[in-house]
Amino acid sequence: MAAEVLVRFVDRAFAPVRLPASSCLAEHLDVTNSPLLFGCRTGICGTCLIRVEGEVPPPGDEERELLDLLAPGDPQARLACQVELTCDVCVEPHPEAA
Ligand code: FES
Repeated sequence: MAAEVLVRFVDRAFAPVRLPASSCLAEHLDVTNSPLLFGCRTGICGTCLIRVEGEVPPPGDEERELLDLLAPGDPQARLACQVELTCDVCVEPHPEAA
């Protein structure tokens, strides 16, 4: 695995960010450097619902349960605070997050 991964945003108003591999988006992103919003940062509130392009590890059972409620049937939906960065990704706030 590479030491760093590149996080790009569909909203090109925000510059891509290089982050350490295996870290979490919530550790490094906020409203100053990304279009993503965070609340609890622990996988409970659903504020950080996003769409992810990239081969990241699948959601755990608790995340899956919340995703089924917030964005049923969307395989790209994830909670940004729960995504482990194992590869380059492109992310955007999920339309259901508004
Ligand atoms: S910030 Fe609350 S679920 Fe991610």
